Amino acid sequence: MPVTIKSAREIERMRTAGKILGRVHQDLGKALKPGMTTLEIDRIGEEMIRSYGCIPSFKNYQGYPASVCVSVNDEVVHGIPSERRRIKEGDIVSLDIGVIYKGYHSDAARTHGIGEISKNAGNLIRRTRESFFSGMRYAAAGRYLHQISAAVYDYAKSFGYGVVRDLVGHGIGSHLHEDPEVPNFRKFTRGIRLRPGMTLAVEPMINEGTYRVGWKKNGWTVVTADRRLSAHYENTVLITKGKPEILSITEDEVAAGIWTPGGNA
Ligand code: MF3
Ligand code: CO
Repeated sequence: MPVTIKSAREIERMRTAGKILGRVHQDLGKALKPGMTTLEIDRIGEEMIRSYGCIPSFKNYQGYPASVCVSVNDEVVHGIPSERRRIKEGDIVSLDIGVIYKGYHSDAARTHGIGEISKNAGNLIRRTRESFFSGMRYAAAGRYLHQISAAVYDYAKSFGYGVVRDLVGHGIGSHLHEDPEVPNFRKFTRGIRLRPGMTLAVEPMINEGTYRVGWKKNGWTVVTADRRLSAHYENTVLITKGKPEILSITEDEVAAGIWTPGGNA
């Protein structure tokens, strides 16, 4: 499938989808408490998504049974919510959520610490987010796709982390997954030339130890091969001539100065 350039009308819908998804992430992140089950997290998240008139895009996607992927500690992505899994103080919990607004998707992930977490865990979460923003320095028309990939990779590797290779980011729009693939590692090709109106889900998955992963018996849940921690940070991004528009950024992140929107709609 060719890489699509979104029209003004499509971009407007994706902006709304992203804004809603940012709100859901912000509110669901604040609702996390020790003792909650991962199924409760999914239920609350789905309720929030529907309260904005959106559809949870992951639900029943290729048979995935929930609206929110909840991945705890050594789980990298695609954790399946369960009434038997409770989160506890010291855990790190990755929430990956997709919404559809008027036929257009937004996809984003955040990793949260529950209560007090270890220094190492906090560093991993922060640096995973920072690796995404390193990539954003190259997310502009005229750059090449794999410049984003290389920047994410180099930043994460500078701390000795493992960068997951078996899963990648993707184009996004009227489908959750569109071309191109967006790797988080260095390639020997430069990839496509970026153009205004392209929309990408950039999603580094960064491990404390090895980059190698395995799959749980449920066929979905990806875990680190060495069972050390993993963090995930993802946003839906619009390419423009200048600074990218990070459609699923949260208000809290903007208030904290993690990202300053601006300049070039
Ligand atoms: N952010 C993930 C992705 O882009 C979420 C997919 S989970 C699934 O692939 F359940 F929908 F598969
Ligand atoms: Co994604």
